[in-house]
Parts: sequence; C-alpha cells; structure tokens
Amino acid sequence: MELFIHHIKELVLTETKAKTFYAGKEMAILPTIKNAWIYIENELISDFGSMQNIPESFKSTANQIDASERLVFPSYCDSHTHLVYAGSREIEYIDKIKGLSYEEIAKRGGGILNSAKRIAETSEEKLFEDANERLKEIIRYGTGAVEIKSGYGLNPENELKMLRVIKRLKEISTLTIKATFLGAHAVPQAFKGNQSGYVDQVINEMIPQVAGEDLADFIDVFCDTGFFTEEDTDRILNAGIKYGLRPKIHANELGNSGGIQVGVKYNALSVDHLEYTSDEEIRVLKSSETMPTILPGAAFFLNMPYAPARKMIDAGLPIALASDFNPGSSPSGNMQLIQAMGSILYKMTPEEGIFATTINTAYAMGIEETHGSICKGKQANLFITKPIPGIEYMPYSYGDNKVETVILKGKIIR
Ligand code: NIG
Ligand code: FE
Repeated sequence: MELFIHHIKELVLTETKAKTFYAGKEMAILPTIKNAWIYIENELISDFGSMQNIPESFKSTANQIDASERLVFPSYCDSHTHLVYAGSREIEYIDKIKGLSYEEIAKRGGGILNSAKRIAETSEEKLFEDANERLKEIIRYGTGAVEIKSGYGLNPENELKMLRVIKRLKEISTLTIKATFLGAHAVPQAFKGNQSGYVDQVINEMIPQVAGEDLADFIDVFCDTGFFTEEDTDRILNAGIKYGLRPKIHANELGNSGGIQVGVKYNALSVDHLEYTSDEEIRVLKSSETMPTILPGAAFFLNMPYAPARKMIDAGLPIALASDFNPGSSPSGNMQLIQAMGSILYKMTPEEGIFATTINTAYAMGIEETHGSICKGKQANLFITKPIPGIEYMPYSYGDNKVETVILKGKIIR
C-alpha cells in the first residue's frame, strides 16, 4: 500500500544520513521539516520533503492524509519492559506508601517473587492474552517497537514459558519486538541461601535451553544491592555471550553495584536504571558503545533518587529513556509520559527527550538501522498527533494522549 501524508505542520527527527544515536550537544538540535510531506511505500519510508517541492506523481496517490495543524513523529521505541506478567501488585504499593522500601518488600517475599508465584499459577494462553492487550494499549500511545524481558519465571520451566509468550507476541503483533532473557532477576524461594546455586542453574540449564529454542535476542541480569553481585553478573554474561546473547543489564538502581563496569566490560548494548552514577561511571561509559538508559517511571514510582541525566548529557554521553513497564516499579508503558518525566524530573529539553525515546532507544535494542527516525528506507513506523502547537507541547501536556493516528509498517492502525 502507498500512503501520502501532506500538509504536515512539522515532520520530526528527519535524517538524510542515518545516525546510530545522538550524544551530548547533538541532542540539543532536532532536525525537522516544517510544512512537510512524507510518502510511504511497501511498509517503508520512501521519501519526504517540503510542501514547496512535491513530486507530481505523489499527488494522485489513492491513500492520502491531510495532516494540517498536526506533527508527525517517528514511533517511540521502548527498549526496556517487563510487560509479560500475571496480575498486579497494588497492595505492595500501599506498603510502599506506608514507608517500606523496595528491598524490604522483596525480603518479605513480595516484589519480584510475588510476580513469580503468579506466573507459575497462570497459563501461557492467559499470559499471552493479557500481554497482547498491553501491547494494544502502548500502540495507542505511540510506541512502535518494544523490548520485553522474562524474569518472573525464575526456574527453567517458567522462564521458558514467558519467553514462548514473547515469541508468540513477536509473531502476531504489528509492533517490532525484541526478547531478553532475565533469569537472574531475583533468587527464587527454592534457592534461598544458595545464590550461587541459582546462578549455576541460570548458566548450565537455562541459557542453553533458551539459546537452543532461539527464544531470546539479549541477556539481562539485575546487578544491584541485595540482588546479583558484580561477580554473578560477570559469570552469567560470559556464559550468555558464548551463546550469542548480547547483554542489556539492570545496574545501579539501588546502589553503586559495579553493574555499569561489568556491563561495559562485556560490551552491553545498554545499562539501565543508573540512579547511582558517579563521575567514575560516567568516565567508563564515555569510553564505551553502551547506551546509558534511564527509567524515569521506576524512580518516580519508587520515590528513588533520579539518575544524573543532565550531568551525563553535559559530559557528552547519549541518554535513552524507556518505560520499564512492570507491575512492581513502573506500572505504565506510556512513552509520552516517560518523555514528559524526562523534562520535568531530569531537566531534559523537548529535543533531548525526543532523541532519547526514539533513535537512542532504537540503538539500545539493536534496531537503529530500521527504526527510530524519519529516514528513507526505514520501516514506516510513525504517528500523527492531534492538532498541537509544536514539539514543546509533547512533554508539557503530560497527562493527555497527544497521538491521533498510528502508522506501523506503513499501515494505518487507528
Ligand atoms: O526494572 N529492578 C528490577 N526489575 C524491575 C522491577 C521488577 C519488579 O519489581 O517486578 C525494574 O524496576
Ligand atoms: Fe526493569
């Protein structure tokens, strides 16, 4: 199908030459075309330009959209979620309000272990249906690609169950989906007091099975205070890499875990959370190809310190912002809200927030060649906003859905 969108008030994040990500000062200057058009053909972006210059042949396209007063953005890429889960955890959230910390709740068998219990009790079919509903919801908010982790199984049977659900979602969804194996998310009840025994099981049983069935693109470890150590993480990443799984890890949410260093050592695609990031870690990240990824939803919801985003960008680093959509620490996959939090809580400009939720997150999930910007030959994943004044309105109007029309693989979804 061909689709011609014209009279676009502003076409955002246009590239004539594709870049893999934007860092530091580059994030301040957003390339856009005012009063623009875009032509989509065979699921891809075929061409785009200014209304002053429209190729004659496009004018007779059967499918046309007049986008007057509206902006067109590349779809959000959400590079970190746990959106396959069973039930919800609002009762723990009340404990949190009453003063219990994330670690205290985890120690009581709440937190991740609570979700693990529910996953064990829930059928693969039900997990699939619930997750698919969540996918439909995030599509409405403008997401066009999403990474989904396992990590609530915590034994070979249920970790594989989660990953098979993600594989089915990949097959049926219009979203681009990447799967991450996160067996080392928490130590399960059965291995209480025997953390290294569980790490052995992840390495010797789970990784070979996950790779054998080709169920994951990436490997993750929750490398943090009270969870997995730098040494555990080192062993697991080393084993995963032998099976072709590139690391993307949880690091420095609860303390200076050494997670950033071990992530960079294994050339992780991203290190995520980063609430505890010192000058030393900024220096380590500067010498790497690893995308520093901040998860504003989790820090906001858990009332945790905020990662030093401004300092990191000012030091020349790129930043990605993802939702962390999960039932315990970030029960929302709304990337518009995440972008707004980037501005409100982390003092990122609207321009920085757009790079951080599109091309930089595309890089953090290994799809930057095909997603994350308006560039000829890239997959036509984009959204048309409601009538809005300009790009600044996106983080400003933080409570509303500004997306009016979603286009994925060149097709109008809604
Ligand atoms: O990214 N930090 C570790 N994992 C998740 C939380 C998962 C949960 O509490 O269920 C996170 O925030
Ligand atoms: Fe997470």
